[in-house]
Amino acid sequence: MRQPTNLYFMVLFLLLSLCWGQRSNPDGERPSCDRCNRQLSCNCSHGGFTRVPTVTDRALTLDLSFNNITVVTADDLKGHLRLRALSLHGNRIAVIHPSAFDSLWSLEELDLSNNQLTALNHTWFSKLGALRELNLLNNPYSCLGSPPVFQSLVRLRRLRFGGPALEELKRGDLSGVTQLEELTVHANNLTRYESGTLAYVWPLGCVTLSLHSPFLTNTSLVSAVLRDVSYPETPLILEDIHLIGNLSVQPFRESARRRIRKITFHNFRVSDEAIVNLLEVLDGVPITALIVDNVTLTGEGRWEPARRSDLKSVDEFFVRNTVVLDVFKFVSFLKLGFLLKYPRKVSLINSQVFVMPCVASQLLVSLQYLDLSDNLLTDMTLEESLCKGDSSLKDLRVLNVSGNSLKSLSAVSQLVTKLSKLTHLDISRNGYISMPAGCSWPSTLRYLNISGAKLATVTPCLPATLEVLDLSNNNLRSFTLALPALRELHLSGSKILRLPPGRLFPNLQTLTIQSNILYMFARSDLQSYSRLQDLQAGQNKFVCSCDFVSFFQSAINGGGDMHLTDGEESYTCDSPFERHGHLVGQVHPSVVECHRVLFVSVSCGVALFVGTLLTTVLWRLHAFWYLKMMWAWLRAKRSSRRRRQRRDEEGSEGLLSYDAFVSYSERDASWVENFLVPELEEPSENDGDSVNPRTPRPLTLCLHKRDFLPGHWIVDNIISAMERSRRTIFILSENFVQSDWCRYELDFSHFQLFDENAAGDAAILILLEPLSKDDIPKRFCKLRKLMSSTTYLEWPQDEERSGEFWRSLRNALRGDDEEDD
Ligand SMILES: *[C@@H]1O[C@H](CO)[C@@H](O)[C@H](O)[C@H]1NC(C)=O
Ligand SMILES: *[C@@H]1O[C@H](CO)[C@@H](O)[C@H](O)[C@H]1NC(C)=O
Ligand SMILES: *[C@@H]1O[C@H](CO)[C@@H](O)[C@H](O)[C@H]1NC(C)=O
Ligand SMILES: *[C@@H]1O[C@H](CO)[C@@H](O)[C@H](O)[C@H]1NC(C)=O
Ligand SMILES: *[C@@H]1O[C@H](CO)[C@@H](O)[C@H](O)[C@H]1NC(C)=O
Ligand SMILES: *[C@@H]1O[C@H](CO)[C@@H](O)[C@H](O)[C@H]1NC(C)=O
Ligand SMILES: *[C@@H]1O[C@H](CO)[C@@H](O)[C@H](O)[C@H]1NC(C)=O
Ligand SMILES: *[C@@H]1O[C@H](CO)[C@@H](O)[C@H](O)[C@H]1NC(C)=O
Ligand SMILES: *[C@@H]1O[C@H](CO)[C@@H](O)[C@H](O)[C@H]1NC(C)=O
Repeated sequence: MRQPTNLYFMVLFLLLSLCWGQRSNPDGERPSCDRCNRQLSCNCSHGGFTRVPTVTDRALTLDLSFNNITVVTADDLKGHLRLRALSLHGNRIAVIHPSAFDSLWSLEELDLSNNQLTALNHTWFSKLGALRELNLLNNPYSCLGSPPVFQSLVRLRRLRFGGPALEELKRGDLSGVTQLEELTVHANNLTRYESGTLAYVWPLGCVTLSLHSPFLTNTSLVSAVLRDVSYPETPLILEDIHLIGNLSVQPFRESARRRIRKITFHNFRVSDEAIVNLLEVLDGVPITALIVDNVTLTGEGRWEPARRSDLKSVDEFFVRNTVVLDVFKFVSFLKLGFLLKYPRKVSLINSQVFVMPCVASQLLVSLQYLDLSDNLLTDMTLEESLCKGDSSLKDLRVLNVSGNSLKSLSAVSQLVTKLSKLTHLDISRNGYISMPAGCSWPSTLRYLNISGAKLATVTPCLPATLEVLDLSNNNLRSFTLALPALRELHLSGSKILRLPPGRLFPNLQTLTIQSNILYMFARSDLQSYSRLQDLQAGQNKFVCSCDFVSFFQSAINGGGDMHLTDGEESYTCDSPFERHGHLVGQVHPSVVECHRVLFVSVSCGVALFVGTLLTTVLWRLHAFWYLKMMWAWLRAKRSSRRRRQRRDEEGSEGLLSYDAFVSYSERDASWVENFLVPELEEPSENDGDSVNPRTPRPLTLCLHKRDFLPGHWIVDNIISAMERSRRTIFILSENFVQSDWCRYELDFSHFQLFDENAAGDAAILILLEPLSKDDIPKRFCKLRKLMSSTTYLEWPQDEERSGEFWRSLRNALRGDDEEDD
């Protein structure tokens, strides 16, 4: 028997492990990413994914950068037929299945940079006929590999490859690549380059080369590379290079020979000797732009040997982020003065310039654009640089001295006032504290940037010719100065409370006033700006009042010429408290808030109307009477119970002191006093019936007038009277029906009837005048009920029959107790 059992378990185990195998099938475990927007752009960046997540097939762009993906399998990207851009930048991808990208027919951009690919395989790209942009930078492959990897990328226009491990480039590596807008090669450790490898790529838009160690160790290799990529129309960018001596600049002879026009050095380290030699190499080359970004000068500025190179065609000279290692020994740029004659555009940005000597600016005769931003200029050294306002910079149109240490607006205005062509002046990020009452500016000035200072007020110092004025990031509280030509006004980052009046700027098209303390702006505020098209007023302290919110929401939705170009998200409410932080475009204040007066008056009206209506209805339905009744009842019932309790405690018998309590209306008092009382309390002989002529026993009656205890609550009195009476006589008449007290009495009697289970009819009704049941109002249901259940005595209209009446009454009153006797 053991054998089959074992077999059975084995089969079961097999089945289970099969199921398990299916469950652990990679597809089942793939995480998913649904961070796609409406444009079907899926940003799964920084998602912590260790595998390619599942994403909707309809995605157009997919950003998987900065995850921990190590493998791209054959199925990972299957079905993404519409995908245009895929980024796998910054993962740890070491393996890509040969057909991983096969279904990406529409792919135009592929970024595989910063991964762990040790070899490239042409099969990855064989189906990517639509690819325009490919980035393979910073992977540890040492060569591009064969067969040529880019062979099938017929549409490729931007190619970036290389990394710290790239050692070799061979002819044929780039076969298939014929025309590029951009080529970037990181080849800092390149040791072997086969001449002509990059030569077949033409036309070539822009080339960026990082060739750190080849420049230091194998200049013939660099020469070969530069020979292959230098064309007059191709800007050349050289990154991460270190030029030390005569030898290291010789490769530029290749570029010079091919009459290169634009050369940029980025992350550049250079010695004095190399500069001199470079100028020599470039002698006579029609270079138009020489751009040096992020340069470290290791020398002392001793450029004496520089002979006058011919660089007539240099139009732009741009230097940014210069670090002078030995700044105290540094001589000056003056030795390169001959270079200053030609350029129209000179930028010396963030380069520790504290003065440009007047002699130098005398040389800059062609200069139209001078940018000395982010340096160490002061009012005094600027005076020297502009030759006390008499400089020869007659053609200067743009002067940028942003980010220096200037303090006096009147000084700068006097210095530039003779620059008769100056249109743009950028003096932002300086230390201006106040504005003089009047300044002199060139009449041509159109653009003035004084942002990032500490100005608190504006004065007519600002010229009326301005078309663009930037005063953002100051301490302004208001702006009230007419500038009729102004098209753009920037006032962000101050302390402004209200929009400046628009009539001051009849031509204003753009107004930025973000990050102030603006609490609202109304339609009328904006209507005063007749030409405004572009308003940016986000990040303010908006009070989300009804007016503002409704105006704002109509402004963003409604057409019109004016647009809030800084996006709805920048407009948030500061107050009221419950809306703090909410988007102005998304709050919906209630009607109550927005039409308070109307609401209050309408609701008061409605309340009044309803109240009146209710009162009327209640009055018509005698609700008040019922209420009063109920209240009286409850009280009466309570006090009666209390009395009974007391009585029980005292052990005294329920004392019945009266034969009857008489309930009557005050108006019927005369009848009661004149007829009833005498007849029942002091009966005369002849009242006895003739058959049995004994004198009837006198009865004791309880009359409220006579027997109620003064000082007690009337209802208590009534109750107690009823309790102490054997019967209650109701004298019914029109008057009775009118009287409230009588009605109470009637009702108490009723309650008494049921409450005490008193046998028989404790109530006796006497109809003083003919009163049909139907004459009694409906709400006296008790009375009506009583009238139909209890027989009542009618006071005869003719006196003859009164004897009979009294007899019946007396009989009714005596009732059972007479039999008890
Ligand atoms: C995806 O989001 C990151 C920030 O998480 C951002 O840096 C990146 O630019 C975004 N990518 C796209 C394609 O929008
Ligand atoms: C990737 O994984 C490593 C450890 O395996 C971890 O230290 C790192 O934070 C992860 N990176 C991301 C972007 O998740
Ligand atoms: C490329 O992938 C194919 C198919 O897997 C393989 O046969 C070939 O060896 C790979 N080539 C390289 C250079 O890795
Ligand atoms: C490549 O060059 C860098 C310096 O740019 C160096 O630190 C690194 O060790 C080199 N790597 C290889 C793989 O040769
Ligand atoms: C310099 O590079 C060339 C071209 O790749 C090569 O032939 C030569 O051997 C290299 N020289 C040295 C010293 O590495
Ligand atoms: C630099 O080297 C070249 C040839 O390699 C030579 O013709 C030139 O005179 C040298 N220049 C200087 C300043 O040494
Ligand atoms: C500037 O260049 C140096 C090397 O010359 C480099 O270390 C630094 O990162 C560069 N800075 C920028 C902003 O590129
Ligand atoms: C002046 O330089 C600053 C900083 O480099 C720059 O932001 C600004 O746009 C420049 N101004 C002009 C008018 O070019
Ligand atoms: C004014 O200068 C600041 C700081 O240099 C700059 O950011 C801003 O763009 C300039 N404004 C205009 C309108 O160009």
